[in-house]
Amino acid sequence: MSAAPGSPIRICLLPGDGIGPEVIEQSARVLEALALPLDLVTAEIGFGAYQKTGSPLPEATLAAIRSSKAALFGAVTTPPDLPGYFSPVIRMRQAFDLYANLRPCRSIPHPISRPGIDLVILRENTEDLYAGIERVEAGGDRAIGEMIITRRASERIARKAYQVARDSGYHKVTLVHKANVLRETCGLFRRAALAVAEEFPDIATGEMLVDSCAMELVRDPGQFQVLVTTNMFGDILSDEASMLVGGLGMACSGNIGDGMAIFEPVHGSAPKLAGTGKANPFAAILSAAMLVEYIGFPETAGRIRGAVDALLVSNQVTEDLGGALSTRQVTDCLLERLA
Ligand code: NAI
Ligand code: MG
Repeated sequence: MSAAPGSPIRICLLPGDGIGPEVIEQSARVLEALALPLDLVTAEIGFGAYQKTGSPLPEATLAAIRSSKAALFGAVTTPPDLPGYFSPVIRMRQAFDLYANLRPCRSIPHPISRPGIDLVILRENTEDLYAGIERVEAGGDRAIGEMIITRRASERIARKAYQVARDSGYHKVTLVHKANVLRETCGLFRRAALAVAEEFPDIATGEMLVDSCAMELVRDPGQFQVLVTTNMFGDILSDEASMLVGGLGMACSGNIGDGMAIFEPVHGSAPKLAGTGKANPFAAILSAAMLVEYIGFPETAGRIRGAVDALLVSNQVTEDLGGALSTRQVTDCLLERLA
C-alpha cells in the first residue's frame, strides 16, 4: 500500500524468536535515528506467536504487513513437528508473491572477508524443487520430487536481475543453470532469461553451469557482478558466497515482489546466543539499510553501510568478528557515528 504524499511510510517490524527480537530492536534504534518519515509498527511471528495465538503467522500480522510499504523480519525458531505449525517464512513469501530473493555480497574491511568482491545473487523464490511436490513410491523405497520451472517465473526473476544491474551500476549479469543436463527445466529458465536479456542491450550477459559457478565463486569471486538462478541453486550459491564476506553475522537479504518487500538477516534464531548479548546486529542492520534503499533513500542506506564499515575498521564489533562489544554496545557506537 503506498502512502499519501506527506504521510509517514509505514514499516512493519517482525522480531520473531531467539535473537530475532534482539537484532530487530537494534535495527529499530537505527531506523529511528535516521530522521526519515517512518511509522514503525511491530507484529508477532514464529514459534512464540504460535504459543500465544495458535498460529506462527497470525491474521493480524498479515494485515500489519499488508498495510505497510515494507517489512523487516528477524528470525524464527523451527519447532519439532507440531499440529497446525507451518513455516511462516515460506508462507509470507507465498502470501505476498515475493518472487525474488536478493542477496548482496560485498567485501567488508575486516580480515574475515576476502577482498575485491561486489556481487549480488538473485534467486527465484517461488518454484523449482522447493515447490515441495514430492511423493513416495515402491513402498517407501523410491522418492520423487518435481522440479517446476515456468516461463513466467523465469522471465520475471531475470527481468528483476537486469533491473537491479542497471539501477546499481553493474554491467554484467551471469545466468546460472544446468541446462546441459536438465534440458527441459533449466533449458526453459535459460531460454526465458536469454530472451529477457535482449531487452537490456546495455548490460552484458554471461552463462555458467552451476557446478562451475560454485567453483569459480571460491577461485575468483571478483569476476561476478549480478548472478541470477533458480531456487535451489540460488539457495546453495548464496550461502557459499556469504562466507566469502563475513558469514552469518554480516549477511543481509531481501525478498522482493512487485508490491511488497520483506528484508531479513540470513541467519536464524540462534537459540544458544539468545539472551547472551553476543548476537551480531549487523546482518539485521544491513537488511534495514536495504529496506531504506528500497523505500527510496539510497543515500541514507549508504550512510548506514559506511558507519558499519567504520566500526569494522576500528574493531568495534561483537565476538563472532573478534570484538568484545555486546549487541547493544555495537549499536550505541553505530548511532554515535550516524549522529
Ligand atoms: P542460525 O543461523 O540460527 O545459527 C548458526 C550459527 O551461527 C550458530 O553458531 C549461531 O550462534 C551463529 N550465528 C547466527 N546468527 C548470528 C549472529 N547474528 N551473530 C553471531 N553469531 C550468529 O542457524 P541454526 O542454528 O541452524 O538454526 C537455529 C534456529 O533458527 C532453527 O530453529 C532454524 O530452523 C531457525 N532458522 C530460521 C531462519 C529464519 O528465520 N529465516 C533461517 C535459518 C534458521
Ligand atoms: Mg539457505
